[in-house]
Amino acid sequence: MEDAHLRSLTAVEAVDGDERAVEAALRPRSLDEVVGQQRVRDQLGLVLEAARQRGRAPDHVLLSGPPGLGKTTLAMIIAAEMTTPLRLTSGPAITHAGDLAAILSGLNEGDVLFVDEIHRMSRPAEEMLYLAMEDFRVDVVIGKGPGATAIPIEIPPFTLVGATTRAGLLPGPLRDRFGFTAHLEFYEAHELDEIVQRSARLLDVEVRADGTSEIASRSRGTPRIANRLLRRVRDYAQVRADGVVTRTVARDALDLYEVDASGLDRLDRAVLDVLCRRFGGGPVGVSTLAVAVGEERETVEEVAEPFLVRRGLLARTPRGRVATAAAWQHLGLAAPAAAPGTSADPALFDE
Ligand SMILES: Nc1ncnc2c1ncn2[C@@H]1O[C@H](COP(=O)(O)OP(=O)(O)O)[C@@H](O)[C@H]1O
Ligand SMILES: [Mg+2]
Repeated sequence: MEDAHLRSLTAVEAVDGDERAVEAALRPRSLDEVVGQQRVRDQLGLVLEAARQRGRAPDHVLLSGPPGLGKTTLAMIIAAEMTTPLRLTSGPAITHAGDLAAILSGLNEGDVLFVDEIHRMSRPAEEMLYLAMEDFRVDVVIGKGPGATAIPIEIPPFTLVGATTRAGLLPGPLRDRFGFTAHLEFYEAHELDEIVQRSARLLDVEVRADGTSEIASRSRGTPRIANRLLRRVRDYAQVRADGVVTRTVARDALDLYEVDASGLDRLDRAVLDVLCRRFGGGPVGVSTLAVAVGEERETVEEVAEPFLVRRGLLARTPRGRVATAAAWQHLGLAAPAAAPGTSADPALFDE
């Protein structure tokens, strides 16, 4: 059962059709237009330039990182920079190896095949993909049991671009077949500010510098959220003010949408709240946390946690999730002496 009350403004699946259209309009179209992620841009730019000079399809690329940081954008840019068509599919859409065989055998030389959420592909499809990535060949099995025969089909050289929120869930053999892996990090406030200014220009929204920086600082380090908050603030500016996005307008609008000054949204706060008030700060398993906030485990793990960990509000330990002293402070509560980050701090472990 879905608890509408806890539906978070950041949940990826909450994007409706209209939002998708706006999102597409705001996507950078070339590496030069991408804001931030300097290292990834330099490295990827080199991979693409070298491939162009050799007249070959670039190596397979894996893009990993939390939702909304630019994985799909980069996949589209790779195809655009190589001036080749982008073929698009996703792990959950490939339920049978046969689905993948059909996609692979329909590729043309140099095509970019984008597989979103590649960690959610079925095991047989994954095995077929290894072979295709390495030998540009698929074995199509005809028949069943002892009489079954595998017919090898050659496929033209292509570039696989995989995107995942959970690189750790990819089996080693699949991960190893990517020639280049880019891990996208949360963005700095000044980068998000630049993104908000760029989007405001494209959407024709009148903004003040203090207004965009307020939106940037509440965007959870995530461009998709920055763009979404800009649109909510624009609505507010239009209806309740004179249309201009100033700091006061941004602050009032975001308070209304329950995005707090550190950028935490309802889901982030619900996780911290349950962890501290109901479980005494932990340790508690992530599945238990998810049930307690009425969300899917994946949403808590892939959407809320990376940011909370990054902000030093939550720690992952071998025995479960633990609230740090900063988390207790954030909720306006006194931290117990044993909370990580206090003087009685026990050693922190990563998973
Ligand atoms: N580096 C960036 N610079 C500018 N805008 C960005 C950047 N990364 C992402 N965006 C914006 O954020 C939105 C979400 O990005 P997307 O590539 O769909 O994220 P992901 O696929 O990682 O979930 C896009 O519409 C795009 O406008
Ligand atoms: Mg995406």
